[in-house]
Amino acid sequence: MKVTDTERLTIRHFEGEDADFIVRLLNDPSFIRHIADKQVRTREDAVSYLENGPMASYRTHGYGLNLVQLKGEGTPIGMCGLVKRHELEGPDLGYAFLPEFCGQGYAFEAAEAVLEQGMAEHALDSVLAVTLPDNTRSNRLLNTLGFSAKWSVNLYGAWNNLYEYRRSNDIP
Ligand SMILES: CC(C)(COP(=O)(O)OP(=O)(O)OC[C@H]1O[C@@H](n2cnc3c(N)ncnc32)[C@H](O)[C@@H]1OP(=O)(O)O)[C@@H](O)C(=O)NCCC(=O)NCCS
Repeated sequence: MKVTDTERLTIRHFEGEDADFIVRLLNDPSFIRHIADKQVRTREDAVSYLENGPMASYRTHGYGLNLVQLKGEGTPIGMCGLVKRHELEGPDLGYAFLPEFCGQGYAFEAAEAVLEQGMAEHALDSVLAVTLPDNTRSNRLLNTLGFSAKWSVNLYGAWNNLYEYRRSNDIP
C-alpha cells in the first residue's frame, strides 16, 4: 500500500518480499552503531522482523516504518515512518537509509512527507524522535525538520536525545 510520495521518492508499506533489502539495511554498520543489532541475518529472520514489527504496527496503529524507494526503477533506499513504542508517550519518527543514499537529501524528503501525511491522517499534534547524542547526521536532520530538543531519555540502556515536533511550531 502506498503511503505517500515526493518529487523523488515513493513511500509504501513493507511487504514480505522486501526481506532481502531488510537484511542489507539492518546489517549496515551505521544501522548497528546508531540504532541496534536486531540480529536479523537471514531472509527468514527478515520476514519475521517485518511481520512482527512494521506489519504488526500497521494493523495495531495504522502506521509503522515504511519502505522508501526511488521513483522510476523503484530502488529501495531506506525506511522511514512513525513508530509507537510503549517506552514513549506518543509516536516517534524512525528512519534509516543505506549509506550510498545518504548525503543527498532523501532522508529529509521522506521524513518531511511522512510527518505531514502521518500527522494529518492520524490527527496527531505532536511527534517525538529519539537519537543518540553522537549521531550527528540524525540530530542535524531532526533540527532541519523543525524538531525541538526536549530532554534526555534512557532507552534500551543508553541515553538518547528526545525531540518533539509540534504542528503548532508553525503558528507564532
Ligand atoms: C540519519 C540519516 C537518515 C541521515 O541521512 P542524511 O542523508 O544525512 O540526511 P538528509 O537526507 O537530510 O541529507 C542531508 C545531506 O544531503 C545533502 N544534500 C544533497 N542534495 C540534497 C538535496 N537535493 N536536498 C537536500 N539535501 C541535499 C545536504 O547538503 C546534507 O549534506 P551534509 O550532511 O553533508 O550536510 C542517515 O545518516 C542514516 O540512515 N543513518 C543510519 C541510521 C540512523 O542513524 N538512523 C537514525 C536513528 S535515530
